[in-house]
This record gives sequence, structure tokens and C-alpha cells, in this order.
Amino acid sequence: MNAATSTLSTSTGASAAAIQHHYDVGNDFYQLWLDPTMVYSCALWEENEPSSNLEKAQIRKIDYHIEQARAQGKKRVLDIGCGWGGILKRLVNEHGVDQAIGLTLSEAQADWVRSLNHPQIEVHLEGWQNYEPTVPFDAITSVGAFEHFVKPELSSAEKIEVYRSFFQRCHGWLNPGGSMSLQTIAYGKRKPEEVQKLPGAKFANEEIFPESDSPRLAEIAEAAEGIFEIVTVRNDRLDYVKTLEVWLKNLRARRAEVVQAAGEAVFRRYERYLYLALLGFLTGDLLLLRLTLRRIG
Ligand SMILES: C[S@@+](CC[C@H](N)C(=O)[O-])C[C@H]1O[C@@H](n2cnc3c(N)ncnc32)[C@H](O)[C@@H]1O
Repeated sequence: MNAATSTLSTSTGASAAAIQHHYDVGNDFYQLWLDPTMVYSCALWEENEPSSNLEKAQIRKIDYHIEQARAQGKKRVLDIGCGWGGILKRLVNEHGVDQAIGLTLSEAQADWVRSLNHPQIEVHLEGWQNYEPTVPFDAITSVGAFEHFVKPELSSAEKIEVYRSFFQRCHGWLNPGGSMSLQTIAYGKRKPEEVQKLPGAKFANEEIFPESDSPRLAEIAEAAEGIFEIVTVRNDRLDYVKTLEVWLKNLRARRAEVVQAAGEAVFRRYERYLYLALLGFLTGDLLLLRLTLRRIG
């Protein structure tokens, strides 16, 4: 659709191999500690909601993004970074959408979504950088994928350039007046350079999310300027503390099965990563942003 920007590749962000390092540990492994929706991003909790409600809080989060993107009853909706298809399924099964299209760089996730055999759901094993749809969309959602769009070694100006290409692409793919709902982790109270020096940052960069880095809110705002109007921004970092607490509890409770599915080293790696992430959101070094963006023009 937009030949002028088609030279961009995933080289500016996490490669397919880096994504598969994380997401292709195995569907069985993730099934053991995620909730039945297989959603792998921060849930949306109500005040004092019991942690046993994770599935309900994930469905609430999905519905929030669908409503913010004004996707209900629309013809075609794109989900960038569709994971195991939680949003895609809800779009067509509960929100009257005709066609839901997902992008992922994970083979295991793409296979999983294909195996749903749902006539209204389509999945592409492709990054947004290479995707070239021929028909426009009425709405876009992207939840927990933006964190993979740039590599840590890029300067802030270079990161903004990549994010701007992302917004330009989304603008080109949306019908006039279309909206996008975006959820991402972001750096919080400390500068990224300072967070990078914290114990655990190297571990997260090298062993958990290689070739990936989170944005700052200011970078997102600058990148979207003139392309998307920012309608709402929420920072729900404590929702991630609660989500991570549940995942960590589940992982520990199913330890024997996790070790059997993926090995002791993977169990330890994930236990450490979930705990460090939880601390990051608790202290405010990490934020959890949910942004509603309306296409300009
Ligand atoms: C943390 S998962 C979130 C999945 C899902 N949205 C959810 O909330 O459960 C991140 C997703 O982003 C995808 N992703 C990473 N980089 C991407 C890119 N450049 N283009 C499209 N998807 C990408 C991954 O393949 C994965 O599906």
C-alpha cells in the first residue's frame, strides 16, 4: 500500500529469530502459567479485584482496546503483534467484526492461530515493517508489541524515526477517521541510561528480550505528531504488578510441569525475569501505557 516506506525492515527492532527465542519456547510452556485466553500482556484490573480473576481482567483489557479503537461491528480490523490470537477471537466472536487480521513474528503463535481454523481470522507471520495489505482497515490494535520495535543500541532520535515509520504505516492502512489502541511498556521515572545500569537490565536484554527496547512516552508523542492525534493516555503500571504476581505464582505452582516442558534453566530464567519486571513496575522505573490514537486526516 505504501511503496515509499517499504525499504524498512525488522533490522531496526527485534528480528524474527530474537522474537522466536522468547515466544517459541513452546505453547505448552506458556499454557502452564498464562490464563486460558493465552494473553501475554498486562491485564486491566478493577480496584481490589481478587487475583483469581486474571482471565476476567484479560478479557476486560481486550474489550477496552476494542472499544478504544472503535472496532465494534467494523469490517476489517488489524492486530499488530497478535500473540496467540486473544484479540482476534474476541473481535469476530463477540464484537461483530467481519475480518480480523493478525501479525506476529512467532511461528508457534502463527501455527496456534491458524489451528483455530476460523474463517474470519487470518494470521501473517510477518512484521509490520514488511506487511503490505491491499485493502484498508477500519481500526488497529497493538498490545505488547511496541516494546520490540527498536533495538537498545539506537539513539533516541533513531528510535523516534522508527516509531514514526510505524505510525506512518498505520496511518496509511487505516480508513479516514480510523482509530488505533496501543498498549506498551515504557521507561518511567529514571532515564533509560540509568535503568540500563541496574542489576538485571543486562540479563533482560540478553536472555529475555534480545534486540528489544521500550520507548519513553515523549518518544511516542513526538513520533505520532501530525500523524495521529493522542486522544487518551493511561499509565496502569500497578496493573502489571498484579498481573506479574499471578504469572509468577502460577509458574512456581506448576514448577515440575514447567521443568518437564522447558527445562530447569528456562524455569529459573522466567522466574527471575517475572520478578525483576514486577519490581520495575512497582518502583515506577517501568510504566504500562495504554494510548488511544485517532488518525489525522
Ligand atoms: C508480548 S506478545 C503480546 C501478544 C498479544 N498482543 C497479547 O497481548 O497477548 C508480543 C507480540 O508482538 C509480536 N511482534 C514483535 N515484533 C513485531 C513486529 N515487528 N511486527 C509484528 N509483530 C511483532 C510478537 O510476535 C508477539 O506476538
